[in-house]
Amino acid sequence: MQAVILVGGEGTRLRPLTSTVPKPVVPLVDRPFISYMLEWLCAHGIDDVIMSCGFLATSVRNVLGDGSSYGIRLRFVEEPDPRGTAGALKFAESMLDERFLMLNGDVLTDIDLTEQIAQHERTGAKATLALVPVDDPSAYGLVHLEDDRAVRDFVEKPSSDRIDTNLISAGAYVLERETLELVPPGRNVSIEREVWPRLIGAGLYGYPSEAYWLDIGTPARYLQGTFDILEGNVQTAVRERLGDSYLSVSEDAQVLGRAVPPAVIESGAIVAEGAHVGSLVVLGHDVKIGAGTTVERAVILNGSEIGENCVLRDCIVAAGCRVGAGTHIQEGAVLGEGVTVGADNAIAGGARIFPGVTLPDGAIKF
Ligand code: GDD
Ligand code: MG
Repeated sequence: MQAVILVGGEGTRLRPLTSTVPKPVVPLVDRPFISYMLEWLCAHGIDDVIMSCGFLATSVRNVLGDGSSYGIRLRFVEEPDPRGTAGALKFAESMLDERFLMLNGDVLTDIDLTEQIAQHERTGAKATLALVPVDDPSAYGLVHLEDDRAVRDFVEKPSSDRIDTNLISAGAYVLERETLELVPPGRNVSIEREVWPRLIGAGLYGYPSEAYWLDIGTPARYLQGTFDILEGNVQTAVRERLGDSYLSVSEDAQVLGRAVPPAVIESGAIVAEGAHVGSLVVLGHDVKIGAGTTVERAVILNGSEIGENCVLRDCIVAAGCRVGAGTHIQEGAVLGEGVTVGADNAIAGGARIFPGVTLPDGAIKF
């Protein structure tokens, strides 16, 4: 079966991680984010994937290649200008089969697509939307169902007075090609605002799921997704890699200090004596952690070097950063690629430092 993944958004809310790397290929634990989606699709028999790209399409293609490493056929479509969620699909129309999946490319989930497709066939739907419950539906598409799972009402980004259920569209749809007849060609069209409302009562169904689901669009949710993968709350290939110990230390990594699971420590990484790493930590390839430093609930990407006696908690450090001795980075702070922070700084409160910035010793006490 075929799937179209929409990856045309700029990922602005995930900056500075997406300032230098497009969102689909931002590393999550040990692989590009979009790999989780491709592996999930493979597990449900999808063997033909079309990536609908906009922003930085070439770098997505460079990382993923032709899909052969995933055992799928992978093709890329680039819109001349952003066409919106339905317009992007219309633009790929000539490549589409009679029935296919459409996925928003920014969610981490293990929804049972096989069951969703089976329900789609049973009901004879034109479109079947996977649905999940969330605490706050205001940032999503709210859905009310009839008893037979036909959609009664779809409200995109509902105002608070319209929120009386917690079921939202998970961004995973089974579609019949004929739904594209509702989409005018050559302009920006939103599937949520212009197509779903017109399909109500005419073949639009919902498939409620209790599966794991997370939109990884912000640094806080990126960290949450990392922790859920490490703890095995979502079914991914990383779970196998972690084994029963929930600790994966690459053969040539050197851990002289302590590593507390769940954690992943990649090749070439060095954890010096007296350093404490974990729990819920990812150290990328060639990361260096200085003596006496503590790293908890944090992600440190390839080649970053953290000095002695630092404290890093609830933070993300992108690739190629340098952090001087005695510096504290906490409370959701994010360092973009290649940032240098001198000794004895204190960075906290969700601060985001953009790629390539240099902070001298003792410059910030946040
Ligand atoms: N190719 C292309 N072109 N892709 C696009 C475009 C475009 O013009 N606009 C958005 N996308 C991609 C984004 O990259 C993302 O993967 C997906 O389409 C959804 O867009 P978002 O901007 O992330 O939408 P949202 O999160 O506010 O809302 C959507 O997702 C929710 C679930 O996370 C809606 O579909 C909601 O109904 C849904 O609940
Ligand atoms: Mg989104």
